Amino acid sequence: MKTLILFGSKTGTTELCANKIKEQLANCEIDVADIKKSKNLALGQYETVVIGTPLYMGQVTGPVKKYLNLHENELLSKKLHFFVCGLALGQEGVDLFQKQISSQLFSHASQVKQLGGDIHLEKLNPLYKWMMKKIMTKEKPKLGLLDEEIKLFAQDIK
Ligand SMILES: Cc1cc2nc3c(=O)[nH]c(=O)nc-3n(C[C@H](O)[C@H](O)[C@H](O)COP(=O)(O)O)c2cc1C
Repeated sequence: MKTLILFGSKTGTTELCANKIKEQLANCEIDVADIKKSKNLALGQYETVVIGTPLYMGQVTGPVKKYLNLHENELLSKKLHFFVCGLALGQEGVDLFQKQISSQLFSHASQVKQLGGDIHLEKLNPLYKWMMKKIMTKEKPKLGLLDEEIKLFAQDIK
């Protein structure tokens, strides 16, 4: 049976992370898809579904939220894994994510991991760019995807 990795991404980091997870699962049959374009993708062929989202202002992206609402029942019948990208690392990012999704989906998931995040200033609108420049100067957040965590996350996808 196949594995589906769905990602929501505004500036490409979560998409890159989805592809890094795929690379780690080289021996399995895997599809990677943008959640925005997957509303009607049949889940029947997949035994395992992995869903990744970035956080913006503490929120998962609109397409991810919509998808989870629309497909909650079917996702509850799958092996489910979540990953979160953002600047709030570790448990802090997981806690923010937990507040955003239904408690059934959260507790059904085999794992929920924060896998790092990145800032692509050139892809942000002027307001977000201004905000992020300020945050980066003041707080100097750790940037970049966490390759070791990605490896461990992929190892636990069974
Ligand atoms: C305006 C803005 C708000 C953000 N808010 C959060 C946040 O609340 N929590 C967090 O962990 N990261 C936050 N981030 C960081 C993003 O989640 C991070 O850049 C992520 O890697 C973006 O993923 P994407 O490239 O797939 O869209 C924010 C970034 C921007 C630009």
